[in-house]
Amino acid sequence: MGRVGSLQTEPPDLTRHVATLDAIERAMCAGDCYDDLDDALRSILDVCAEALGCAYSGLMVLDMHDGELTGRLILQPKTTKSLCSAGLQPPVAQWLLQLDLTQSLVARVFLEHRTRVVSCLHDLTRPHWDAYAVHLVQRSLGITSIALAPMLTGGECLGVVAAAFDKAQAVAEWHLTVLRLFARCAAASIKHADLSRTLVDREQQVSHLLKATIDAQERERERICLEIHDGVTQTLAAAHHYVQVVDSYPQLPEGVRPHIHRAGTLVRTAIREARELIATLRPAALDTLGLVVTLRNEMEDLGAQTGMCIEFEADEVRFAKATETALYRIMREAVTNVTKHARASRVAVRVKQARDRILVEVQDDGVGFDPAAEARQPTPHKVGLLSMRKRVELLGGALTLVSRPTEGTLVRVEVPLPAHSSPAVERVAVCEVAEEAL
Ligand SMILES: Nc1ncnc2c1ncn2[C@@H]1O[C@H](COP(=O)(O)OP(=O)(O)OP(=O)(O)O)[C@@H](O)[C@H]1O
Ligand SMILES: [Mg+2]
Repeated sequence: MGRVGSLQTEPPDLTRHVATLDAIERAMCAGDCYDDLDDALRSILDVCAEALGCAYSGLMVLDMHDGELTGRLILQPKTTKSLCSAGLQPPVAQWLLQLDLTQSLVARVFLEHRTRVVSCLHDLTRPHWDAYAVHLVQRSLGITSIALAPMLTGGECLGVVAAAFDKAQAVAEWHLTVLRLFARCAAASIKHADLSRTLVDREQQVSHLLKATIDAQERERERICLEIHDGVTQTLAAAHHYVQVVDSYPQLPEGVRPHIHRAGTLVRTAIREARELIATLRPAALDTLGLVVTLRNEMEDLGAQTGMCIEFEADEVRFAKATETALYRIMREAVTNVTKHARASRVAVRVKQARDRILVEVQDDGVGFDPAAEARQPTPHKVGLLSMRKRVELLGGALTLVSRPTEGTLVRVEVPLPAHSSPAVERVAVCEVAEEAL
């Protein structure tokens, strides 16, 4: 086991204090500055060596699995260079080491969460390092003592940082204190990278799930539309036909004809309701005539029903079915929000195609609201804006919401045009109940 050297007790001077704090701050920021974790760790090792004034630094990211401790060695770039120029190939940075739990000092630091100082490199990881290689490394680099600190975060140890000193230096108490801080910075970077990776994975899973749910919902809507159209509506149309046959008899018992007329009216109402249900679930025109025509017709109807002045401005374009469906759902929600919340007198609905982008907007002159306040207080029963955002995200686009109380609202959606965008006009439920029969 390595000998613990005698430690100096003098505190460093003020200039060194400031430099040390500056180095610690840079180490704390390393995780934000590098996309790659190993690059962040190497930069922490650089500033650690600079702050301690030590000759070399390195660390091991350790993993305990099934009672076995393995470590990935990461060295300060200067250390790797020195090893290479001393002819020690391949660079040890590539080594994945298995450590002896009872004999390796790195393992002890990892398990006991204690800082240590050792005078012989061989003690660090023995017995797995070849003694001759260790001797070579130590002699080539002139290392006399090595300080080790556990990389702790939240009570968990993720590895060990080592600072190697050459002959000119003795390891002081402050070296160990500062080394412990750098070890914590390295641990925080690893944890941060782990959490970021987990978050990205989860987000991807949620997006996949959401897309699958939305696709399934659209398929289910199409299926229900077809069921209603081919089932209930056809039956009602047939019933209406027989009502008309009965009504065509010139001689009917006294008082029967008003009942027949009443039956005819009820059947026609049921057919109309079935058609409205189909249109609400998935307007047939969306598949046959496309997004622009469907929206134009619906906006005309809405204007007539509500008295709002609706300005509809659109390029005569068609997009792939999935894109048109998603944009239709987004715009319908934006328009529904106008009718539900805005108390607007004017609404503008726009669909534009730039070279490689689709731009859609719904703008009203209503009461407006504070989108930031809405986002701060998510309410489980308010899902419209959230679902709009998610749909836009799945299309790879961006949603901008501009609104202020009393100043109206603009919903602006920009999505990339899919590379092979061809209008996929497919036959779906088209309510073909014979108009002439009604
Ligand atoms: N055009 C608008 N004008 C004024 N307020 C709006 C407008 N659009 C959204 N809001 C405000 O934002 C809130 C959130 O909208 P969101 O669509 O998420 O929920 P919702 O419409 O209340 O419920 P739903 O889940 O049925 O859509 C609304 O309750 C409303 O206060
Ligand atoms: Mg809504």
